[in-house]
Amino acid sequence: MDRPFNVRVLNQISARGLKRLPEGRYRVGKDVEAPDAILVRSADMHAGDIPASVLAVARAGAGTNNIPVARLSARGVPVFNAPGANANAVKELVLAGMLLAARNLVPALGFVAGLHPEQPEAEMERAVEEGKKAFAGSELAGQTLGIVGLGKIGCLVADAAIKLGMNVLGHDPEITVDAAWSLPAQVKKAASVGEVLRQANFVTLHVPLIEATRHLVNADNVGSMKPGAVLLNFSREGVVDEAAVLKALATRTPAWYVCDFPSPASVRHERVIALPHLGASTQEAEENCASMVVDQLRDYLEHGNVANA
Ligand code: MLT
Repeated sequence: MDRPFNVRVLNQISARGLKRLPEGRYRVGKDVEAPDAILVRSADMHAGDIPASVLAVARAGAGTNNIPVARLSARGVPVFNAPGANANAVKELVLAGMLLAARNLVPALGFVAGLHPEQPEAEMERAVEEGKKAFAGSELAGQTLGIVGLGKIGCLVADAAIKLGMNVLGHDPEITVDAAWSLPAQVKKAASVGEVLRQANFVTLHVPLIEATRHLVNADNVGSMKPGAVLLNFSREGVVDEAAVLKALATRTPAWYVCDFPSPASVRHERVIALPHLGASTQEAEENCASMVVDQLRDYLEHGNVANA
């Protein structure tokens, strides 16, 4: 092409990643006209948002459910993504989520926030004793973690949980456990999602949102979780039927729902720990994702190569 490529950036994308698009050869920005390519993170895109000039779409992340992939494929427009590039960030947040629930850290922090700085020392000491009893938790070591979805994130979570002394049970609705990507040998195989829900103390979901995984955890199976169990969802909101889970929380099966998707119904729920889609929000993950997709985009625009579309 004898002019610079126009790349429209729809979300905040790591500046380090964008630097891989050399000035002079690329015009990059939110408002560039007639884009040759679109770089997007998790903003929802509709077919109408994609002008006819677009030759490729790049998603700086793993999930592509915010992009009309089928419509674009029909137009011959590849969609690039970055599977695995943020897996470590998600893994670490899953570990944090398990600890938040197991050690009652959210109500404990709320309790401390309610203490008054001018409270007399003796009263403060009494309150600390009270909190210490009220928020006693349990350890992760020795408990069973069930993982549904054994891609890169699921495998990293399995590995970390084993290192923490947990027993791990794994199931993937799409691939056989034997074919899972570098799954540690200690992981026991579960034949179904139901088996994972019935047997684990913690269940974490790492599947993409596709028709087969919509409401994978639902009114028919959530009640079979162990009393006191913890359900973690750092995949996609729609993988869980939230209404069914909120209902099940009333009987403590599960006792906690830890997720990355606050909703009007869950945001004040005392048994829900909801984060604002923070799974991949680390500087490292953002750089990895942006770099991976920018490189794929360049390879396509400059050389016509299609990797991982
Ligand atoms: C992903 O699918 O990888 C995440 O949603 C990334 C993000 O937070 O944009």
